[in-house]
Amino acid sequence: MLFVKQSDSSDFAEQMKQAASLLQQGGTVAFPTETVYGLGANALNAAAVQKIFEAKGRPGDNPLIVHIADRSALEPLVTEIPDCAYALMNAFWPGPLTLVFPKAPCVPDVVTAGLNTVAVRFPAHPIAQQFLKACHCPVAAPSANTSGRPSPTEAGHVIEDLYGKIDALIDGGPCQVGLESTVLDISGPVPVLLRPGRITPEQLREVLGEMEISAGVAEQLSEGEVPRSPGMKYRHYAPNTDVCVVRGEDDQVVLYINHQIAKNHADGKRVGVMVYQQVLPQILGADVLLSLGDVHHRSAAAASLFSHLRHFEQEGVSLVLAQDSTDTGLGLAIGNRLHKAAGYQIIDLR
Ligand code: TXA
Ligand code: MG
Repeated sequence: MLFVKQSDSSDFAEQMKQAASLLQQGGTVAFPTETVYGLGANALNAAAVQKIFEAKGRPGDNPLIVHIADRSALEPLVTEIPDCAYALMNAFWPGPLTLVFPKAPCVPDVVTAGLNTVAVRFPAHPIAQQFLKACHCPVAAPSANTSGRPSPTEAGHVIEDLYGKIDALIDGGPCQVGLESTVLDISGPVPVLLRPGRITPEQLREVLGEMEISAGVAEQLSEGEVPRSPGMKYRHYAPNTDVCVVRGEDDQVVLYINHQIAKNHADGKRVGVMVYQQVLPQILGADVLLSLGDVHHRSAAAASLFSHLRHFEQEGVSLVLAQDSTDTGLGLAIGNRLHKAAGYQIIDLR
């Protein structure tokens, strides 16, 4: 397995070329993006893409996002570019927005899980761009974690999950955004938000006017409900520990969490807690206490959520109590990931 790291700077460009050449030969390469690390393969090579599903243990009915190095690489992948796409690309590309288009025949079925649409993203991370340019092909890449685990926001997370199962890893340090891209389906008459992310519904509506939010984005899908994005139906982001979300006014949340810490300690259990910094000093006796940052600047919570979940797991806590997020702005994406990690175990104190 090839490791590429930016600090070994003299060889960096050369090693990036080596990683790109491994991908061109049908291999799998993990690389950083501004959202999370991706596990890439040549999107036009079905056998190579199949290796991604094997390495991750990913269900075959969950389609992948195709990554491109510039806008001109979009056209061959799709049969139509709707008018609203241009405004969206001008506003948010390169960046953490994935757009779903009607798919061209050159995109293999394994990439799109047999759907007649394809998801495309042009990432902003300079190393991602350098790597994608060097590949000279579109790159299919899901998050570089074992399926169902929290997405990787640093190279160490990729090693934890996929060491020995992939051909190369490019280490670009921690990811800035920390949550996967916003996914917006523009293949139908009205744009539909399939997955919330750093680009918020408020930002999208400013460009689009009309937009729907898919079932399952803000709340749990009800039984039997079929999501428009296949990935939405799986339990996701789950560490190997129990997670419980606590919702309410700050003092209610503090009282409840402190009570639960004492109660679990009486049962001999270790408890992890993650709350916003405003209430953190009032939490008493947690075995592992992590901050979600300033509640008014939620980018810190987004950036640390997945690595916190992995940290709790490593610390061997048997329960994580997490303060809930709002459902506006970036809070919608944070809540969406947190609620899934908790298997929708939410204590509402309001
Ligand atoms: O930020 C990101 O998007 C990261 C980085 C690596 O780019 N990638 C990522 O990929 O999160 P993945 O595979 O973990 O999530 C892709 C999501 C899934 O929920 C999948 O169901 C949805 O996008 N998706 C992919 N193609 C689709 C399509 N044609 N129609 C509807 N949903 C699609
Ligand atoms: Mg994923």
